[in-house]
Amino acid sequence: MNNVEEIVKQASEKIKTANSVESLESVKTEYLGKNGEITKLLKSMSDYSVEEKKKIGALLNSAKKEIDEEIIKRKGFLSSSEIEEKMKKEKIDFSSAFSFNFPKGHFHPISQTIEDISAIFKSLGFETAQGPEIETDWYNFEALNHPADHPARDIQDTFYLEGMKNLLRTHTSPGQIHVMENQQPPIKVIVPGRVYRNEASDASHSSTFHQIEGLSVDKNITFIDLKSALTLYARNFFGNDLETRFRPSYFPFTEPSAEMDVQCFFCKGKGCGVCKGTGWIEILGCGMVHHNVLKAVKYDSEKYTGFAFGIGVERIAMLKYGLDDIRLFYENDLRFLKQF
Ligand code: DAH
Repeated sequence: MNNVEEIVKQASEKIKTANSVESLESVKTEYLGKNGEITKLLKSMSDYSVEEKKKIGALLNSAKKEIDEEIIKRKGFLSSSEIEEKMKKEKIDFSSAFSFNFPKGHFHPISQTIEDISAIFKSLGFETAQGPEIETDWYNFEALNHPADHPARDIQDTFYLEGMKNLLRTHTSPGQIHVMENQQPPIKVIVPGRVYRNEASDASHSSTFHQIEGLSVDKNITFIDLKSALTLYARNFFGNDLETRFRPSYFPFTEPSAEMDVQCFFCKGKGCGVCKGTGWIEILGCGMVHHNVLKAVKYDSEKYTGFAFGIGVERIAMLKYGLDDIRLFYENDLRFLKQF
């Protein structure tokens, strides 16, 4: 029995060097099979006393267990590498099947425009967030400081869902409320998305379109921050050589409010059909976040200020690509889409 340890050592050596599941099986037979080394020793136990049998039995059984476990482990390793080897050999080369020029797709011009605008704001430190398209009156109107009788709440302009409890968002501005409810300043975020209005479609109107909302809230944010961020955006998107200007305007959720114009890039400000002779093209609405909006999300309006803006994506894309009918974006006519 002194050589049990030696036998286990030998077996272990053979298991380690076995390099196929098949050769591993023969190692198993050699030690644990009917006439295997360990089996033989177990059979010879009848020659010993009860006391000795107990001791030797335990010794042999643990030797058997050890060899068995090593075999199982090695088998697992070998079979997975055998499969790997097999897969390598059986790999099918498809490259010749696609040797012709497979047609490549591309982004829809609206997606591409959202992508281009987002990339500029990303470079200015804005993160991107998403909001739901189905909203409640609170997010779409109330928290955004719309008075109860505001015309936008009218059923004529808003798609209310059954029961009038929910509605399809009419702008991406409710995204501002979601962001502020979920995080504390500093905030610098854009919210691109699809919006809905209950209106008949024509060359310049569609009941479904896209906007990109922007919001920046922190201590000491001023109109200078608004102007510099939006001017950098306009220069990047429309070109460095074009002038920009801000005109006073009105939105319920900003005070003061403004609209931003860029010099007409078709006539460079001289006046043409696209800018209706004015030399300027309106590109977005913006303003300083109204203190009632900050109050609605329980921000301390003494401590924080912010600016917001909203960009109409279709409008920008139509200007950029020189299109005169918004409906082209939604018809999915390949003759149109392939031009981008
Ligand atoms: N929500 C406005 C609209 O749909 C656009 C807008 C204007 C968004 C001014 C803003 C803003 O954040 O400051 O017409």
